[in-house]
Amino acid sequence: MTLPPAGRATAEAPANIAFVKYWGASDLERALPVNPSISMTLSRCVSRTTVDFDPTAGGDQVRLRVRDGEPPVDPGEAFARRVRAHLEALRRRFGLPAGAGRFLVETGNSFPAAAGLASSASGFAALAAATAAALGRHPGPRELSSLARLSGSGSATRSALGGYVEWPAPGGEPEDPCAGQLAAATHWDLRDVIAVVETGAKEVPSLAGHRVAATSPHFERRQAELPRRLAAVRGAIAERDLGRLGATIEEEAIELHVVAMTSRPAIFYWAPATLGVLAAVRALRRDGVEAWSTMDAGANVHVITSAAHEPAVARRLREVEGVRDLILDQVGDGPVVDGELVGSEG
Ligand code: PMV
Repeated sequence: MTLPPAGRATAEAPANIAFVKYWGASDLERALPVNPSISMTLSRCVSRTTVDFDPTAGGDQVRLRVRDGEPPVDPGEAFARRVRAHLEALRRRFGLPAGAGRFLVETGNSFPAAAGLASSASGFAALAAATAAALGRHPGPRELSSLARLSGSGSATRSALGGYVEWPAPGGEPEDPCAGQLAAATHWDLRDVIAVVETGAKEVPSLAGHRVAATSPHFERRQAELPRRLAAVRGAIAERDLGRLGATIEEEAIELHVVAMTSRPAIFYWAPATLGVLAAVRALRRDGVEAWSTMDAGANVHVITSAAHEPAVARRLREVEGVRDLILDQVGDGPVVDGELVGSEG
């Protein structure tokens, strides 16, 4: 078969913070979740990935940009293997023979990778978007969400869209449940003050967490709670009700970690400073500041607040022992490919 001509594209894709989380798969191979999840797409935490396709060469190569302006480095075997597997799945989806041509991938993050800051979500969404464009294809957000999920990272599905995003679970839904937008970023200017308490790679990847989630005695209980929580989060987003949203997402995050801590084997993501930040957030609320915490599979805490209260939140969190850095992020738009926002429904 004739391969597509040589092509090159750069994509920037945002991280997202889950309000209702994906934790436990009905089919881990295909990253099909047990339950729907809802997230807010971020603006400053992004992955930028350039893909070069050469139909005359072979052997995909992966490079990691640690800092802008410096030469990229070898990312290590585990990372390169996941990228190569995603490239192979994208070849299959686009009807190319296995190993056909060569992809040259250079990728980097604006934030610490693999520390519960959803680097896999932004990274694989950026890889899917740049690879498709290097092959001359321009998927819309829904198709891109499906391409991103071929990486095995479920949360990458939600990073294909901006604003507030829901990823349905299969069931009454189509076999390949694509993420959809609940509301655009302009609908509600929420802020996310990220307290970075750990910058190293996390000990247990989320894939391992999905695998053992159902061994927790709290797994079924959380599933039973989720329809109520999902409805509360959808309603709070529609009505821009921060109190309702905050109370729901904080309860959800704590319960996700209870499930992780009580699975077999048990998984602990929190560091001592995580508890310090959670206490500071409760103290902020006692002082009348609207601030609510949530954590993905890591020790860092995302504190969701309004634009008006963001400075007070940042001031207080800087004083918490063990907080190394703060990232002041906010709701943002979806991926950008070669300078163009990924278009409306494709
Ligand atoms: O997308 P994965 O396989 O890295 O899993 C994501 C898990 C959480 O971040 C904890 C929850 C979520 O929905 O993002």
